[in-house]
Amino acid sequence: MTVPAIRINEERLHDDLVALGEIGWDPAHGLARTTFSRAHSAAREWLLERARAAGLQARVDSAANHSAVLPGPPGSRTVLMGSHLDSVPSGGRYDGALGVVCALEVLRTVQDADLRLPVSLEAIDFTDEEGTLVGTLGSWALAGVLTAEILARPRSGRERLLSELSRVGLSEDGLRAARRDPGTLAAYVELHIEQGPVLEREGVDIGVVTGIRGNMSFEVTLTGAARHAGTTPLNARRDAGRGAVLAAKAVGDVTAGEFPECVANVGDVQLEPGAFNVVPGRARVMFECRSVDRDELDRLAARILDRVRAVADDCRLDAEIRRVGHWAPATTNPDVRSAIERAAEDLGLSSMEMPSGAGHDAQVLADVVPAGMVFVPSVGGVSHDPSEHTQFTDCVNGANVLLGTALALARDHTFA
Ligand code: GLV
Ligand code: MN
Ligand code: MN
Repeated sequence: MTVPAIRINEERLHDDLVALGEIGWDPAHGLARTTFSRAHSAAREWLLERARAAGLQARVDSAANHSAVLPGPPGSRTVLMGSHLDSVPSGGRYDGALGVVCALEVLRTVQDADLRLPVSLEAIDFTDEEGTLVGTLGSWALAGVLTAEILARPRSGRERLLSELSRVGLSEDGLRAARRDPGTLAAYVELHIEQGPVLEREGVDIGVVTGIRGNMSFEVTLTGAARHAGTTPLNARRDAGRGAVLAAKAVGDVTAGEFPECVANVGDVQLEPGAFNVVPGRARVMFECRSVDRDELDRLAARILDRVRAVADDCRLDAEIRRVGHWAPATTNPDVRSAIERAAEDLGLSSMEMPSGAGHDAQVLADVVPAGMVFVPSVGGVSHDPSEHTQFTDCVNGANVLLGTALALARDHTFA
């Protein structure tokens, strides 16, 4: 199949990025589109409307993944593209959204050019990538790997997960029923902002992702005894606040000292009851650690937990440790990587291979379908912050690389 050189419609892409970026935007706090919030639902509805307006099929599956579809011949496989429309609290306009909008633009461009491809093209917005509830919930559901353990111990806590699912009309059975037979999928390609400084620093247009760091997340509850802060001698305290601070320090110390290639983050610490004059009786410490290597991730997590337990013993606290997320490191597919590299080259763009420090839906899909990721530069390497930005030229470049990659995969759709 020979495919003519076509390019995405820049004006339409620009208008869409501006319109979508307004949904849930608050000048004081940035983007607030956490999973199933009003703004999140509005963004998803916007996507379906844009799909319908373009004459594409609009679909929502039983895990609430939202899609635009350009159908191929009956029974044809699907080249799936996309990312997520949910955000972290106080997030930026590009994380996830860029990948969804560019995927939609690829479908519209192919349709405008009246290309008859031997595959279906689908632009998907996965549910809850950021982990308001679970993290990569929609892609886990679609990949058919949503285990009972994942649903039993979500980041949000089980009660909140169940109440949110029921509030929006979803169920655990429905989540599981969203599984798609991997044989129906030719490939998954996700365009995303890099969220780090490498492409900008190197002056390179496109990142071709080789692998994605794995992640283990934990919630530690330390229980001591709430006491009067003025009258209780230091050596008589079971101070959960002191334990939390030392545990948080241990997370950083173990990682920097023993696993310099890895990263870890203490994202939240809560003390109870939370008053100047009360020794905290309980503390919750939320942290995660990441590595590109499975075994190293296991060892890192085990070492950190050893130190956290030692801190609890020293402070005479009870420690309850809950693992609330585990994403294995993933490797992208070499054929998809080559297709991305060639698409960049055909457009006269520079590219480099690089790992992803952030987690993505592609990490989950990579286990069941040939998957790849296209990165575009992030200004100043900033992400998960309202100041997150990517130059529009880079958005256009990424969208055209995604288009070229999809066409190449469509041509070789039997490659897998
Ligand atoms: C997703 O943004 C992640 O936490 O890496
Ligand atoms: Mn993110
Ligand atoms: Mn993202």
